[in-house]
Parts: sequence; C-alpha cells; structure tokens
Amino acid sequence: MDAALRTRLQQMPKAELHMHIEGSLEPELIFALAKRNGVALAYPSVDALRRAYAFTDLQSFLDIYYAGASVLLKEQDFYDMTWAYLQRAHADNVRHTEMFFDPQTHTERGVPFATVIDGIYRALQDARQQFGMTGALIMCFLRHLSEEEAFATLEQSLPHRDKFIGVGLDSSERGHPPEKFARVFARCRELGLHLVAHAGEEGPPEYIRTALDVLHVERIDHGVRCLEDAALTERLARDKVPLTVCPLSNVKLRVFDKAADHNLLKLLDAGLTVTVNSDDPAYFGGYVNDNFVQMFESLPLEKSHAHRLARNSFAAAFIDEAGKRKYLEEVDAFFER
Ligand code: ADE
Ligand code: ZN
Repeated sequence: MDAALRTRLQQMPKAELHMHIEGSLEPELIFALAKRNGVALAYPSVDALRRAYAFTDLQSFLDIYYAGASVLLKEQDFYDMTWAYLQRAHADNVRHTEMFFDPQTHTERGVPFATVIDGIYRALQDARQQFGMTGALIMCFLRHLSEEEAFATLEQSLPHRDKFIGVGLDSSERGHPPEKFARVFARCRELGLHLVAHAGEEGPPEYIRTALDVLHVERIDHGVRCLEDAALTERLARDKVPLTVCPLSNVKLRVFDKAADHNLLKLLDAGLTVTVNSDDPAYFGGYVNDNFVQMFESLPLEKSHAHRLARNSFAAAFIDEAGKRKYLEEVDAFFER
C-alpha cells in the first residue's frame, strides 16, 4: 500500500460502532488497577499476560477477557479504562463511537450497575467536551447467561435509561442462538431502545436470520458468515443492514486463518453496508486504524473502498439525520482532496 493511502486511512473521519469497552483494557492498565484495588492476578507480569493472548477460538479469548475485567471495581476504574480508549480513538480520528459494555460481568462480582455506567458515561462526556467527539453506550446481555438474568439486568438499567441508547447480545455465540433472548429484546423494543446483536461471527448464518426476524435488530455485529447463504446475503444488501466487521478480531479468533483470507472485500462486492471496527483492541493487536491498515495491506482495497467504509460507518450509526449529514459531508470533502 502506498504511503498516501495509509495516511488517508489514518486521517479520514470515521465512526467506530463495534468495540467492547472492557476489551480496551491494556495489560499495563490491568496491572495498575490490580495493584490499586488489591486484586490478585493469575499472571506474574504484563509480559506474561500478553503472552497468554494466543487464542484458538472465541471462548479461549472470553475466558481471559473476563479475568482481565475482574480488576474493575470503582467508578474511577471504569472512567480510566474508558478515557484511555477515547484518547486512543481520538488519535485515530474517530469522530463518533458507540461502545458496548457488559454490566453482568461486573454486577456478578458485586459491583453496582451505577458504578459501571457512571464511570464510563463520565468519560464519554469528557470526550465530547475536550475532543468534540460524539458517542453513546450500548448495553450488552451475555448470551451464555439466561434470559431471566438479562431481564434482571434490564431492570437494574432502567434508572440509567438516559445514559445508553440500545442493547446488544455478546459472549459465547455457539449454542446460544438469538431467539433465546426473544422476550427481553421485545421488551427493549417497547422501551424504544436500539437493538443490535453479535451473529455470524462463529455461529451459523441462521443466527443472523433469527437476529433479524426474531430480535428485530437494526445492525448485525460481525455477520461475516452471511456469505455462506446467498439468499441471506441478498437480503442484507437489499435492506442495507449494516454489518460491523472486526477484521483483526476475526483473525485472532481464527474465524479466518490470516488477514489475506478475510472476506471484507467480498462483503463489499456483495453490496453490503460493511463497517470496520476494533472489537477488543487491547486483545486483538490494534485499534480501529490498525484494522483498516492491515486489511488494506492484505487485500486489493483502494481509495474508493476507504471512502465507502468511512461513509458506511456514519450511515450505520445511531445518530440523528442532521448529525449524519454533517459527518457524511465531512467524509466526502476529505475524499475530494
Ligand atoms: N465480547 C467481547 N468481544 C466479543 C466478541 N468478539 N464476540 C462475542 N462476545 C464478545
Ligand atoms: Zn464484539
């Protein structure tokens, strides 16, 4: 890739729509928070922890990801984690970010819901003030837990309804189909929340279909396995259902063997509204710009693809039409240069 395209990828205005804030916890911060909170870690050093980031599949990652999150106890911990990500995203010219958080990972350990969301939300407000970055929170239900537990979490979230815009579904995909959460998503829909779900990451295309038909989600997180089903792919393209794709995550979790095998270009060529995102940047080897650069280095992607991906990121965002128009104009002006 030539230097001009690399610079363009880095400098282009973009939105990030698929990242788990707990997945931005860098090993150094895990160790600092463990020390601050007196939490014992199973790894003797930052290097030893980083060496453990050799994943074989989604579950092997999730086990380490949940262990890493165990150092988060106080509101300030959630603030510090989120602020570190927002500074990093700002450096990558992220203008708008929609961050997932996993309350059940913390409330299960006795951390109050308010502690979690207040710390994250305060950092987001500071980013708006200091960087002019917009953003929002999406609360994820852990799909390896029961729908009843998701309902209990939804109940706890309601006093904080003004601090998040939607709900999602994450954690272990295989064996936990979207329809397991049909009733809680129906309730969230009544509440006027935006709806998204991880589907077709490791799980089959059928999970993408039930996420759409049973949960009525507006975006699919990952969705890369849709190409195994031509009718589904056509439907996603026709209905402009955004797919929030996370290339480095897919390679690290062995959905694809190597970057050059990723189907990002095939998804674009199928007419899908694809976006590029970092998922869990501290665990998968890079933030959003690293995802762009690695894909453009590994696949025959060009300036026109960069333009389309930047446009898609704002088109797929949960922002009002006026805000969207402003960002899209900014993208188009950037690509006229
Ligand atoms: N939680 C954090 N990252 C995830 C991913 N890539 N898939 C499912 N759940 C997750
Ligand atoms: Zn994810």
